[in-house]
Amino acid sequence: MVETDQFIEDAVAEIREEIGSANAIIALSGGVDSSVAAALAHEAVGDQLVPVYVDTGLMRKGETDEIRETFAYMDRLRIVSAQDRFLEALTGVTDPEEKRHVIGEQFIREFEREAHSSDAEYLVQGTIYPDRIESDGNIKSHHNVGGLPDVVDFEGIVEPVRELYKDEVREVARALGLESVVSERMPFPGPGLAVRIIGEVTEEKVEIAREATAVVEDELEAYEPWQAFAAVLGKATGVKGDNRVHGHVVAVRSVESRDGMTARAQPLDWEVLQRIQSRITGTLPNVSRVLYDVTHKPPATIEYE
Ligand code: XMP
Repeated sequence: MVETDQFIEDAVAEIREEIGSANAIIALSGGVDSSVAAALAHEAVGDQLVPVYVDTGLMRKGETDEIRETFAYMDRLRIVSAQDRFLEALTGVTDPEEKRHVIGEQFIREFEREAHSSDAEYLVQGTIYPDRIESDGNIKSHHNVGGLPDVVDFEGIVEPVRELYKDEVREVARALGLESVVSERMPFPGPGLAVRIIGEVTEEKVEIAREATAVVEDELEAYEPWQAFAAVLGKATGVKGDNRVHGHVVAVRSVESRDGMTARAQPLDWEVLQRIQSRITGTLPNVSRVLYDVTHKPPATIEYE
């Protein structure tokens, strides 16, 4: 803990020195990385920091409200409601990389507007060490790395957690007193629920991914997974009541990992899997089938697109 306290002290001093008396902006994603970066930056420069949270409509259940509460102490917090614009931009998009690209572009447009109106000269980012490795290797386009600095002419980019792994970021979050919904929160991809939906993103599929993920997170908490969630794969025939239905197929995924670069599918009890299945098909009338994904990474990735 001494090391963590020292890290915080050094990071705050470094941010203060870099930003000076200028304004800075940060995009909050709801995840622990950007939350810690924001808390450190706020500690360093107070109300010179403008935290911006873009509600893409692709967030987890309750996430926007949690952000509003957690960061209420930051006077300049802005919450942008962009759900309709994201959904519209995603209409007809089925290719995984194009999907990521469309979301990244839309995000930049939303953020750019906020950055211009905030007079921010500095951009604070919650980039952590593994993000840089994966992005350098071009494994997949991460919309939270790169991109943003190019659209607004920032004086500088500040990345206070750039050398940390996820478990170290969590330690810092706890030491900073961030609420456990934030410090213990599972990683969540920048493009949100969209990469847990195969094919076109529609309001219906987003709702299924969101509700089913909430069930999975709730049921699997005791297993302490690195990530656990539900994905929407496609459609298959089922029977509900007396009728055959062409319902959605939901995959449950739960993995152990240290940094997301490799992962192991978790062994789960049959009873828990059955409970998840019954809660999901019971509450979502348009879901007819639930599968459990037993694939490690590699060969699979953690997310689906
Ligand atoms: P994959 O699916 O590549 O995911 O095995 C590895 C880890 O990265 C997260 N992930 C992302 N995080 N922006 C992010 O900030 C992204 O575009 C993105 N794509 C995947 C994923 O949730 C997992 O923790």
